[in-house]
Amino acid sequence: MKQQRCILAVMLAASSMVGCDNGANRTPNFEPNYLYAHALEKSEDLDLAQPLTDASQLIEEWFGTLNDPKIPPLFTEEYADLLSLEKLKMAAGDPPASAEPGTTGLYRQQCASCHGESGQGRGPVAASQNPYPREFRHGWFKYKSPNRQSKPLKEDLKRILVQGLADSQMPKFTKLSEQQIDSLVDYVIYLSIRGELERKLLYLAAYDLDLDSARIYNASWKSSSDEKEKSTYQEQVDAATEILTEIADAWNDAPDRVEEFVKPSFPIFGQETDENRSQLKESIEKGQKLFVGDTAACAKCHGQTGKGDGPQAADYDDWTKDWTIKIGIQPTDAEELLPLMARGGLKPQPLKPRNIVAGHLRGGRDPIDIYRRIRYGIPGATMPAAAMAASEGAPGLTQDDLWHLVNYVLSIAEVPPPMPVVADK
Ligand code: HEC
Ligand code: HEC
Repeated sequence: MKQQRCILAVMLAASSMVGCDNGANRTPNFEPNYLYAHALEKSEDLDLAQPLTDASQLIEEWFGTLNDPKIPPLFTEEYADLLSLEKLKMAAGDPPASAEPGTTGLYRQQCASCHGESGQGRGPVAASQNPYPREFRHGWFKYKSPNRQSKPLKEDLKRILVQGLADSQMPKFTKLSEQQIDSLVDYVIYLSIRGELERKLLYLAAYDLDLDSARIYNASWKSSSDEKEKSTYQEQVDAATEILTEIADAWNDAPDRVEEFVKPSFPIFGQETDENRSQLKESIEKGQKLFVGDTAACAKCHGQTGKGDGPQAADYDDWTKDWTIKIGIQPTDAEELLPLMARGGLKPQPLKPRNIVAGHLRGGRDPIDIYRRIRYGIPGATMPAAAMAASEGAPGLTQDDLWHLVNYVLSIAEVPPPMPVVADK
């Protein structure tokens, strides 16, 4: 144990050096994913130091560094619209000396204090927040138009930057130009793709490679005179390319995963007229019954009247479970958590079901936004996707039921006062 503490102290010193802004002797680089590597190490009883170094090296070759981003060589033709180097360069780099948002360093100026320079969700002010700022490295996003498994659209990310996420620390950025917002959107996608690639390379190392003999990447073999080493190098690059292609395809495919919805025959909240107001009232009543009923079971978490006080105990989100419950550690077990928290995990906080009445609808308050939240749930959070009926008459919810629930939710959600514009300095 003593020895472990010592290693930790050294590691922490090293990582805080990496995380410290404007350090004179600093080679600015992304922080390796110590947390995920250690979670895998603990669950599989492995040493992933070498794979972590290998992954960092390959990812740096493909994605560049904090101050000098690159577009991976794979991203030509069909991936050309995904990331623009020009935009990444606006977002990357040291923050400008003045408080005015400029033409470089936007991410570190506007976002990194919360989300961390590497998108690890652990900026210097993150620990006091609830919910914590998002970690982008998993590639999971909560509020989006496409279906549950999909990546968000660029427009979805843009909306979040412009509107903020109500009742969380995520501000709305009203002073940034459209060009600046677009560059930050690309940068979030860039951080997310490189983070997801790193995670998947570590997973590959933990589960698919014999670590005594195999490496995930060995750059020095690129120009080796040994044919076997050279071909192994090519296999390593091919394997990583395959993983990156899958991730990039998921981003590219997102627009195809936006489903069209048929509007119901009854009015939707806010769109009713004097003639059909009574139909809306009926729909809201049906929605209320569904809300407290067994099939939709919303009240289990949100409570009988939607105030977020249901009987089911609050659970942890998937970002937290990933390095706790998933590897057999209870999120309340302080001692077991210690080495993981030293590597970037923030003290687990259960995710409370939303008080719907208070009206902080983070995914937007258009009826279609609420429809999508109910239909797909909130991925990464404990809010489940609706249990839809497999066919007409089968148990489960119908499209009309979902619209009744939308009407009910909108009828109880008060309009909250405008959120403070934290980012307007
Ligand atoms: C003061 C802290 C803070 C700052 C600054 C901040 N965020 Fe956030 N951000 C958060 C928090 C907290 C969440 C998580 C909210 C939640 O889970 O409901 C979040 C969530 C997000 C999400 C995830 C949305 C989703 O659908 O899952 C994105 C994307 C995001 N922020 C981007 C940014 C960008 C880009 C910037 C800089 C322009 C930024 N944030 C600045 C606190 C912050
Ligand atoms: C297992 C618990 C659980 C169940 C069941 C559940 N929810 Fe939720 N719901 C949550 C949690 C947790 C959040 C907050 C997620 C977050 O902040 O990341 C939430 C958030 C919401 C939101 C806020 C969305 C936004 O844009 O901010 C709405 C609306 C909502 N739920 C409606 C419903 C409805 C309607 C049902 C039933 C069909 C339901 N929920 C069932 C746990 C649950």
